[in-house]
Amino acid sequence: TTITFIQPDGRSRSLALADGTSLMQGATGAGLDGIVAECGGNAMCATCHVYVDEAWAGRLPPRSDEEDALLDGAAAERLPTSRLSCQITVTPDLDGLVVRLPDRQI
Ligand code: FES
Repeated sequence: TTITFIQPDGRSRSLALADGTSLMQGATGAGLDGIVAECGGNAMCATCHVYVDEAWAGRLPPRSDEEDALLDGAAAERLPTSRLSCQITVTPDLDGLVVRLPDRQI
């Protein structure tokens, strides 16, 4: 499943990620800059914040209450399309998903 990550400076990288992993695991495993993931994917840190492309925002499973609360504490501005990348599981339906990275995670 191919996911494209766009850095704040506009550089983009498309990664082929294994289904069943989280976006965060896939991105950090590939050495992508811009995701810190301090808590290791346990929905406790909000340092894996991403902005989902508007076209995709309604096509992802909704946020849990936990994710929603944590996003309020994210370092970069929270937008309507903000998500925690550790809470998004890669599935074949997400092929072509585009996410933008915030300018900071801490
Ligand atoms: Fe900590 Fe996602 S890695 S909330």
